[in-house]
Amino acid sequence: MHHFQYHHDELFCEDVAVREIADAVGTPFYLYSRATLERHFRAFDGAFANTDRLVCFSAKANASLAILTLLNRLGSGLDIVSGGELFRGLKAGIAPDKIVYSGVGKKSDEIDFALQSGILMFNIESVDELDLINRRAGELGKKAPIAIRVNPDVDPKTHPYISTGLKKNKFGIDVVTALEAYKAARKLENVAVVGIDCHIGSQITDLKPFADALESLKTLMHELKSVGIDIRYLDMGGGLGITYDQELPPAPDEYARAIVTALKELPVKLILEPGRVIVGNAGILITRALYRKMGTEKNFFVVDAGMNDLLRPTLYQAFHAIQPVVLKTDQKLTADVVGPICETSDFLARDREMVDVRNGDLLAVMSTGAYGFSMSSNYCSRPRVAEVMVSGDRFYVIRARQGYEDLVVGETVPPLLEA
Ligand code: LLP
Repeated sequence: MHHFQYHHDELFCEDVAVREIADAVGTPFYLYSRATLERHFRAFDGAFANTDRLVCFSAKANASLAILTLLNRLGSGLDIVSGGELFRGLKAGIAPDKIVYSGVGKKSDEIDFALQSGILMFNIESVDELDLINRRAGELGKKAPIAIRVNPDVDPKTHPYISTGLKKNKFGIDVVTALEAYKAARKLENVAVVGIDCHIGSQITDLKPFADALESLKTLMHELKSVGIDIRYLDMGGGLGITYDQELPPAPDEYARAIVTALKELPVKLILEPGRVIVGNAGILITRALYRKMGTEKNFFVVDAGMNDLLRPTLYQAFHAIQPVVLKTDQKLTADVVGPICETSDFLARDREMVDVRNGDLLAVMSTGAYGFSMSSNYCSRPRVAEVMVSGDRFYVIRARQGYEDLVVGETVPPLLEA
């Protein structure tokens, strides 16, 4: 992570001392490096330079407007899973014909919104959904461009909660039934079959599952061709992993080479939906240590960020490195880093050997740019944290910290309850 580095004893994001930002905006906050975001996007997109492709950043990883706007400027499209993400993407200026829409539970109003916006394609996840999209398109006088999300039944060897391409997962249509679904789609009046899609999981650190999924898609494409169905877009989904700890994921150009080689001369436009690999290591979470509790069995550092701000350690037992923002000591200690929430599951790290922390110290929770803020909540009526972007020697608050009033927006007490 070239843009999060220590100069002397202080952590910098590009040319700004993290401590200075914390003094100005308070804690906790997410901090992103613009230069890192740009480097990651260019490395990924550039790896496919000689291929007809569209990189559609996966909004779920981080849908903040400033980040989407930056990625749009770099040429990115968007992979969405909700009407809300479509709204954000359009607001960030992303052209609708660069937006693909996946998800097993698209609702009628979301489908209408996408049809009216003129998105590139719907990635269909069930036959029922295909029927609904056909009906909605007919109603609106549109033709819905669709791909079928194929479930290739490959094991991505990642955390079970984030693997999606196994038969037992709820995603996509299994590769055997998919052919029938395509034949059915072809007969529908308000649907245009344009693509084939898969997404097998996330934080994948091996190329084999991608290659296996692609083989299975290619086989299906040949079958489709033999019955006269021509595919224009092949969407490989996202899933490329990053280094949180010791993982050694393939570099984007190795990933690209594997896919492009397998595609060979197939006359399709390739779509990719990377999320984590673009933003994961472009963001960190800054929190302040509140209390130091040295126990007989365990030591705890209580910090001001909790599981509502960063859910990944709780939900997936995910590892995030935790580093002091200002290096003061070499003394090491084993402790749990925990938040203020009233649950034992509220931790950022467990039994972590780390540099000793004093009350008031700032800590950086690393590699939290993806699925950090986007999975945060207001649990325990905790205002959502601020987000900051650094560019060179300047920093910008891209999302203000919520205040208490924000917590009650939209709530009403029925008059009958009022005295
Ligand atoms: N496309 C589709 C259809 C997806 O479902 C996802 C992620 C992506 C693309 C982007 O995948 P990526 O390149 O980021 O791996 N909250 C979990 C990750 C859930 C991923 C869900 N789908 C986490 O924090 O690890």
